[in-house]
Amino acid sequence: MKSNIVLIGFMGTGKTAVGQVLATRLRLKLIEVDTIIAKTAGKSIPDIFKEDGEIYFRELEIKAIKKAATGKKQVIACGGGVVLNTINIDRLGATGVIVNLVASPEVIVKRIAKDGITRPLINVEQPEERIRELIKFREPFYDRATDFTINTSKLNIDTVTDKIIDRLENDESFNF
Ligand code: S3P
Repeated sequence: MKSNIVLIGFMGTGKTAVGQVLATRLRLKLIEVDTIIAKTAGKSIPDIFKEDGEIYFRELEIKAIKKAATGKKQVIACGGGVVLNTINIDRLGATGVIVNLVASPEVIVKRIAKDGITRPLINVEQPEERIRELIKFREPFYDRATDFTINTSKLNIDTVTDKIIDRLENDESFNF
């Protein structure tokens, strides 16, 4: 039986915000993978990208996911690129139901402009174009990883959370 809820999806689709509400409502522990990576490295995600490069970041991500996937009764909010290494998905899927949050590029641009978090991969002059390219490249990775998908473009955080809980109530592989 699975007892973790794993939130994946592109940057700005609501993983962290939904993760917080979901964890509170279901009384599960919240694991924010990027927060763990930053703590382990002793520096921010943009600094890891700048000083050590993306490959080193992905190595830290694999280590953080390996540990997180061994825990139980958790909401695991992943970084957007977690699907790129299939070992992450194999580990997360063994103990958790994987929920993919999606949103339109227009909505993603607005959300990331608002939340003030620097995201090295889309910190460019034309973020919308870059976002479209990255989504196109990553789509098969998200599809392969996903148990079910929720489009958050027009939904608020509570509605997304309700939808996830509804789906899990009908999922025989998940144990509340
Ligand atoms: C990344 C997404 C970020 C963070 C890093 C790389 C990605 O997390 O892990 O900047 O490759 O999509 P969020 O999805 O929480 O922004």
